[in-house]
Amino acid sequence: MKHSLYTKEIMKHFRNPKNVGVIKNPDGKGRVGNLICGDVMELYIKVKNNKIVDIKFQTFGCVVALAVSSMLTTMVKGKTLKQAMKITNKDILKKSGKVPPIKVHCSILAADALQEAIYDYFSKNNLKIPEKLKKEHERIERNLEELESRYGEHVKFEKEILNK
Ligand code: FES
Repeated sequence: MKHSLYTKEIMKHFRNPKNVGVIKNPDGKGRVGNLICGDVMELYIKVKNNKIVDIKFQTFGCVVALAVSSMLTTMVKGKTLKQAMKITNKDILKKSGKVPPIKVHCSILAADALQEAIYDYFSKNNLKIPEKLKKEHERIERNLEELESRYGEHVKFEKEILNK
């Protein structure tokens, strides 16, 4: 079947997503939500010697959200925290190829979830949190609050399923 809407890279990760699941007792966990559609993503990392040695995700979302989450995990695994912190949504979009404009908001979840997981790692370990990461965290937290007020029931349902 020909897919004109999505690139080959997106379809490859959508059909065969990598690193789906949960890490028990993660060193860092990020939970983010999409204000436009109410979808939620959770991302878990294991860190050893400053490197992300394992990463897994669970995403409630569409084709793009799922594919981009998978793509991000493959980009991050084995990177140092410093390298991972520099990965932005632009880098992910560069790798995924063209995303329909109406779907760009779906691609943001993954990059935000990574920043949140790293923030969680820093705060759990009482490490000095870089200013940029702190600001991102505050923005993402505000989004989550707004998300809960806009899509309360939907988010509750997703939370229940993710934490089963
Ligand atoms: S429509 Fe919700 S993540 Fe794409």
